[in-house]
Amino acid sequence: MGGMADDNRIVNTHQFEAWNGYEGRHWAEHQARYDALNDPANAPLLAAAALRDTDSVLDIGCGNGRLTRLAARTAARAVGVDLSAPMLERARESAAGEHLTHVTHLQADAQVHPFAPGSFDVALSRFGVMFFADPVAAFANIGRALRPEGRLAFVCPQPVTAMDQSAVFAAVAGHVTLPDFDERQETGPAAFADPARPGEVLSGAGFDTITVDPLEVVQEWGTDPADAAGFLFGWGPMRHWLREAAPESVARAHRAATDAFGAYATPEGVHLTARYWLVTATWPGTP
Ligand SMILES: C[S@@+](CC[C@H](N)C(=O)[O-])C[C@H]1O[C@@H](n2cnc3c(N)ncnc32)[C@H](O)[C@@H]1O
Repeated sequence: MGGMADDNRIVNTHQFEAWNGYEGRHWAEHQARYDALNDPANAPLLAAAALRDTDSVLDIGCGNGRLTRLAARTAARAVGVDLSAPMLERARESAAGEHLTHVTHLQADAQVHPFAPGSFDVALSRFGVMFFADPVAAFANIGRALRPEGRLAFVCPQPVTAMDQSAVFAAVAGHVTLPDFDERQETGPAAFADPARPGEVLSGAGFDTITVDPLEVVQEWGTDPADAAGFLFGWGPMRHWLREAAPESVARAHRAATDAFGAYATPEGVHLTARYWLVTATWPGTP
């Protein structure tokens, strides 16, 4: 944890290890691919945030920082906070490459970092808020960083079973054991898959005026099915699930995934429909 201030406590230690280990390195090394996958969420999320040129913006779990930089095109100041050193390195290099001098990055655990109270107008996140061990505490901490009437807007995935991705996982599961995607997940990508959950967490944390709307987008998985399957089999979670599987079974699963991606191949690339929740809320401030 070198380079971080003494008061910069990390409580989400498993997440810290994952995002500073294989998973974070994979995201950093494949920055453009992850952005191709996740960029379709940008415009609806930024529209919901309704940024102004006077706004000070906090991007939670900013990763390689795409959303932070897009927010900075409108906002007066944008700060990206993330656990992952390799991803923050990409974020800093990318901001410098775009000559954005009003963007800064902070390696910290957003659940507990002592942000200056009331110092942001808007908190945003593209898939960076599902990994808190204590989400109510985390959002209360983020809320305190907002000024009274400050806004929150984020996107998080609907259940995998609501997405085209589930057909690929079903093909893979014919050869290796995958997790039960119907099982409720407390922490991880599906933590807010149940649309009642963001409201429960946010109201518990002190936010009000909470909205949860469905968002359907088309994700770009790769240039062709083999490319898409190669990317999927490099994913940190996939590597974790398959760590004890026999190599022959993994090879068969990989071929099955390639075939399954074939159903979504177009001349422009492999396109899968994904479904998210677009969540907004307001921080009322301390009464
Ligand atoms: C799915 S990635 C999304 C990255 C980025 N927002 C994007 O859309 O490309 C989730 C990110 O959340 C970060 N993260 C997870 N838990 C966090 C925490 N407690 N505090 C700060 N960042 C966290 C991870 O390090 C990772 O970069």
